[in-house]
Amino acid sequence: MLSEESAAVLRATLPAVAGALDEITTRFYGSMFRDRPELLDGLFNRGNQASGAQRRALAGSIAGFAGALLENPDIRPDALLSRIAHKHVAVGVTDDQYTIVHKYLFGAIAEVLGDAVTPEVAAAWDEVYWLMAGALIAREARLYHDAGVAPGDIWRRWTVVERHEETADVVSFLLRPADGGPAPVARAGQYVSVRLRMPDGVHQLRQYSLSSDPGGDLRRITVKRVAGADGAPDGEVSRMLHERVGTGDELVLSVPAGDVALDEAGTPLVLVSAGIGCTPMLGMLARLAATGSTRRVLVLHADGSPDEHALRAETRETVESLPDAEAVFWYERPGPEEPGARTGLMDLAGVGVPADATVYLCGPLPFMRAVRGGLLDAGVPARAIHYEVFGPDLWLPGTD
Ligand SMILES: Cc1cc2nc3c(=O)[nH]c(=O)nc-3n(C[C@H](O)[C@H](O)[C@H](O)COP(=O)(O)OP(=O)(O)OC[C@H]3O[C@@H](n4cnc5c(N)ncnc54)[C@H](O)[C@@H]3O)c2cc1C
Ligand code: HEM
Repeated sequence: MLSEESAAVLRATLPAVAGALDEITTRFYGSMFRDRPELLDGLFNRGNQASGAQRRALAGSIAGFAGALLENPDIRPDALLSRIAHKHVAVGVTDDQYTIVHKYLFGAIAEVLGDAVTPEVAAAWDEVYWLMAGALIAREARLYHDAGVAPGDIWRRWTVVERHEETADVVSFLLRPADGGPAPVARAGQYVSVRLRMPDGVHQLRQYSLSSDPGGDLRRITVKRVAGADGAPDGEVSRMLHERVGTGDELVLSVPAGDVALDEAGTPLVLVSAGIGCTPMLGMLARLAATGSTRRVLVLHADGSPDEHALRAETRETVESLPDAEAVFWYERPGPEEPGARTGLMDLAGVGVPADATVYLCGPLPFMRAVRGGLLDAGVPARAIHYEVFGPDLWLPGTD
């Protein structure tokens, strides 16, 4: 619990600290990577550093946590902490590293805010940092324990047993543990990190959702090749997976993680996606089919055209195999392959979303924001809407 003295100091300084967080986190990463360059090799995602997304996610989460503490000193913001803890486990963060982050973060705060950081101000923010770190460390310890691994010991080699071209831009890899052992337990909707050595020798991690039934012996990931726009480079990991990895090759994958996972209730389900956001939905659909689910399931997907819609035929087939499931697709450029599809952007009007549904959402943020609005209008309560972001979550703390 936050002490009363610290709460008063925090209340007085939160606007100034929150206003300077962008500069603080820029300096923080700059000095930490200068002194500890090994953290950029096989831990932090340099694409997210280049775009500033990770910096904004860190800043938003600290401001969000501090604000929540002031409102409710006894309660920890569960959704925020859970999202971060799962990502930390997927990259192998360990508790000793919190001391490193603390050192550089507080160095950056002192540099940016100067004399405003009196000993009282430093102590109050120190308390916030360690309350947040403590809550994360405890959650991460539980997740490592549940995954049956020592903290940080998340990597395992997998063999690609099949490579399948889904569309011109999307490829799937079917994987089996290279040591012949059983695949680790995963929940439908979860993701793994893939660890690759890039041509310059630096290791990079990226997350990919499990796109097949996570209960079987094999796992599948489905990867869209990211093209660089407006002079930006092509996505480095997706490009390497597309160009260099084939059947018989080995990939290094983390234990599964992710807080967005299929519930086991009997209530109606609505799976909503756009573009490559279909991957966690396929994992969930495959799980429902494998367990003989009789739930009412509505699959809603938006894409550029049927040709670009990855796993389209498999989605249709799986939906047809379920006793009470239905799929509706929207295409900006419809084609003869999907005669019943709707034209244009997804529009929930007339779709008949059950108000008691549990909803899973995945796609670009503007898409998810629009759909969420439509779901709330349809009477679905906010607590029943779960979403996955294919990058640092800037939505939850309200920074995007
Ligand atoms: C939980 C989760 C699940 C995911 N599931 C999937 C999935 O199932 N399938 C899937 O395909 N993807 C998925 N992703 C996204 C995936 O993790 C990667 O982000 C994606 O493959 C791009 O990685 P990359 O290395 O190819 O691109 P990066 O190299 O990381 O580049 C990303 C973007 O940043 C730009 N960029 C990079 N460096 C610079 C620079 N120096 N200057 C300017 N711009 C730059 C690139 O042009 C590109 O647009 C998921 C992500 C998360 C977090
Ligand atoms: C209280 C301390 C910390 C806070 C508040 C914090 C916050 C965050 C947040 C908000 C994210 C993004 C989560 C998402 O995907 O939405 C994240 C990811 C991450 N964090 Fe932390 N973190 C902390 C400590 C640490 C430590 C100690 C390390 C290890 C040195 C670390 C390494 C990472 C890495 C590698 C990622 C993924 C980055 C990426 O993919 O770009 N974090 N953290």
